[in-house]
Amino acid sequence: MHDQRLPHQRPRTARTIFPSPIGRQRTRFSLTLVGAAIAMLGAGSIASCDADRATGPSAEAIATGRDIFRFDTFGDEKFWTDTLRMHEVIQAAVTPGVALSVGLKVDADALPQAVKDALAAGEVDLNSTATTLALLKMSAVVGLKGDVQTVNGRDTLLRVGTTCALCHSTVDDSFAPGIGRRLDGWANTQLDPGAIIALSAALTSEQKAVYNSWGPGRYDPRYNIDGQNTPVVLPPAYGLHGVAKETFTGDGPVSYWNAYVAVTQMHGQGNFTDPRLGISIEQEPDLVTSKLPALRDYQLSLRTPKPPAGSFDAAAAQRGRAVFTGAAQCASCHAGSTLSDINSGKLHAPSETGMDPRYAARTAEKAYRTTPLRGLFQHAPYFHDGSAATLADVVAHYERTLDLSLSTIQRRDLIEYLKSL
Ligand code: HEC
Ligand code: HEC
Repeated sequence: MHDQRLPHQRPRTARTIFPSPIGRQRTRFSLTLVGAAIAMLGAGSIASCDADRATGPSAEAIATGRDIFRFDTFGDEKFWTDTLRMHEVIQAAVTPGVALSVGLKVDADALPQAVKDALAAGEVDLNSTATTLALLKMSAVVGLKGDVQTVNGRDTLLRVGTTCALCHSTVDDSFAPGIGRRLDGWANTQLDPGAIIALSAALTSEQKAVYNSWGPGRYDPRYNIDGQNTPVVLPPAYGLHGVAKETFTGDGPVSYWNAYVAVTQMHGQGNFTDPRLGISIEQEPDLVTSKLPALRDYQLSLRTPKPPAGSFDAAAAQRGRAVFTGAAQCASCHAGSTLSDINSGKLHAPSETGMDPRYAARTAEKAYRTTPLRGLFQHAPYFHDGSAATLADVVAHYERTLDLSLSTIQRRDLIEYLKSL
C-alpha cells in the first residue's frame, strides 16, 4: 500500500490514487556491449533515410516517434545508473523541490486526479525523495525514466535513464510552475543538465567543476569526446521541417544528430560513426538505429509555436520584415521559408557574423549554419553560445559586425519582426 501514494499524504486520498503504470511497462535492456568497432552507420546512410519524405509520414509513425522521444532511453541506464549511479543520488537527495530547481518538469497529464487534488491542497510533501520516486513510478518526470520497485516494503529506484524529452521538452506550467502539459520540441531553457550530472559521486572534482560551470539552458555535447568546454544553448527541436541540416554547425540531417546524441551523450546502446570526428561506436544489440526514422518523423511534425497574443506589435513587425530583407541585409543568409541558407549548402565562417570560433572548431564542419529562425519568443538567449541575451542584443551584435546603420525606428521594427517568428 505504501508504494501506492505520495508520502505525507492524507489517508483520505490514499486508496484512490497511483495505479502504477510504470511497473507494468517495465523494460529490461540487454547490457551486452560489444565494444567499439567500425560501424556501418555513417552520415551518408542516415542522409538517405531523410530523403524519402515525399509522401509524408503516417500518423502511426509519428505516434511511435513521439513515444520514443518521450520515453525511450535506448538502454542508457547503463550510463546513468551503472556508471553515474544517479539512482542512488536521486533516492538520497533529489526531492521534487530540488528537481524543479534544476529545471526538471512534471507532466500533469501523467498524474491521477487525486494526486493533482492533493498537490493543489498542499498535501504532498515536496521535500521528500519518496515523492520523487512516486512521480518517477508514474512516468511523470519529463525526460527521466525510472524503474521503481518495492524492495523490503519500500519504493526503491533500481534503474534510471534519460530520454530526448529531457532537454527538448518543457511544460506549460498550467498546473503550477514546472508542472503542466508537455510541450515537446520546446527547448527547456531552465534545465541545468550540468548541475544534474554533477550530482554524481562517480565524477572527479575537475569534471564536476566543468559540469557546474554550464548553467541553465546550456550543455556541451562534445565535452566527453574532446575534453574541451564551450557549452551551447539547448535549441528547440520544432520547426525543422524542410531544414536540410541540423545543429548549430550543420553537421548532418536530423537522424545523424539523433544517433550522435543517443549514443555518445545519452549513452544509449547503439551505433554511431563519424570519421570526421574520429568516432566509431558499435554496440549490440543496437537499440538506436531502427528507431531513427519514426523519431525523425515525430520531430519534423513538431510545428513552431506561435508567439503569445500581444507579445509583439503586429504593425511594427510587418514593417520590420522589410528592414530584415532590406536595410539590415538579414535575408541574405536567413533566406527562404526556413529563414536559413543551409538548404543551398551554405555554412558561414565564424568571422562572417562575428561569432566565437571555438565551438565550430570542435565540430565536423568548423563553421556555423545560419540558424533557421523560429519560435524566438520561446528560447532566449540567442546564438549557439547564448551570447545575446535578448533580441535587442542580437540586432546590436549585427549592427556592429555587419556595420549596419539602422534608424531607431528600423531597429525597433526589426526586433518586433523577430518576436513574431
Ligand atoms: C542533455 C541534453 C540533450 C538531450 C538529452 C538531447 N539533446 Fe538534442 N541537442 C542538445 C544540444 C546542446 C544541441 C545543440 C548541439 C549543436 O547544435 O551542436 C542539440 C541539438 C538537437 C537538434 C538540432 C536542432 C537544430 O536547431 O538544428 C535536434 C533536432 C535534437 N537535438 C534532437 C534530439 C533528440 C531526438 C534527442 C534524443 C535522441 C536529443 N536531442 C537529446 C541537447 C540534448
Ligand atoms: C552572413 C550571414 C548572416 C547574416 C547577414 C545574418 N545572419 Fe543571423 N545568423 C547567421 C548565423 C551563421 C547564425 C548562427 C550563429 C550562432 O549561432 O553562433 C545566425 C543566428 C541568428 C540568430 C539566432 C537564432 C537563435 O535561435 O539563436 C538570430 C536571431 C539572427 N541570426 C538574426 C539575424 C538578423 C536580425 C540579421 C540581420 C540584422 C541577421 N541574422 C543577419 C548568419 C547570418
